[in-house]
Amino acid sequence: SERYCVIGNPIAHSKSPDIHAAFALQTGQDMLYERCLAPLDAFDATVRALVAAGYGGANVTVPFKLQAADLADRLTERARAAGAVNTLIFNSSGGIIGDNTDGAGLVGDITRNAGVDLEGKRVLLLGAGGAARGAIVPLLAALPAELTIANRTVATADALVDRFTAQLAQDQRLAACAFENIAGPYDVVINATSASLADDLPPVPGSAFRAGTLALDMMYGKVPSRFMVFAGEHGALERDGLGMLVEQAAEAFLLWRGARPETAAILERLRQGV
Ligand code: ATR
Repeated sequence: SERYCVIGNPIAHSKSPDIHAAFALQTGQDMLYERCLAPLDAFDATVRALVAAGYGGANVTVPFKLQAADLADRLTERARAAGAVNTLIFNSSGGIIGDNTDGAGLVGDITRNAGVDLEGKRVLLLGAGGAARGAIVPLLAALPAELTIANRTVATADALVDRFTAQLAQDQRLAACAFENIAGPYDVVINATSASLADDLPPVPGSAFRAGTLALDMMYGKVPSRFMVFAGEHGALERDGLGMLVEQAAEAFLLWRGARPETAAILERLRQGV
């Protein structure tokens, strides 16, 4: 059976092996998927060793997504736009292709799992780092009326908006703003900052939300993030990043195995912790 893994540091708590094992079982695919702890200074050597050992590919997580983009011989368009890689495909000829399925996973979770159609909606994206970058093109492809990027360092959001607006033939739906200038309410608010990792709340005003706004945190944990709690207090529907995790995994599985798993039941089982 073909072997795959998820490379990160730390990696012990990754749920990806459970998710891919469930996908393999459901689709009847013969594959193994493991955790791989790469030393912080030896990501490249770790990947080369997997290629040499005949692995079919690997997922990449914190803190190696940028290094994975540098290492790949070829990047897909969406990986290049994100400037980051979460999925590596190892060719039979030894080449390494870098892709990024995070943005597609995010949009899939919003539209399929949460049942929110993004067409014509006002969408607010918090953060302008790697996680936010990967979400921009897939979000715009879902046809929102507006996609505003708010960031603590406004210049970073401005630069992102300038770059993507130029790349996308002067797409006028993108805007950048400071947290204090957020003019809500928005239909969907996505926390793509790393604030939740530090148990921090990005300085988003309560007026960003209305009753029924979908507030999605890309992070997930045992308890709701401060962003989710705050959004909930302002009437929003809270959603963590577990659905996005399952959906990005399904996209990677499709690339490697040519079959797309049904994610709904697997996500439900993960939520119940079984
Ligand atoms: P990632 O790959 O997770 O996106 P990153 O590229 O380091 O990580 O980006 C982190 C993002 O979270 C940035 O947008 C950062 O804002 P700055 O550009 O101003 O640094 C944002 N961020 C991190 N901690 C934050 C906090 N406590 N409040 C608001 N934004 C925060």
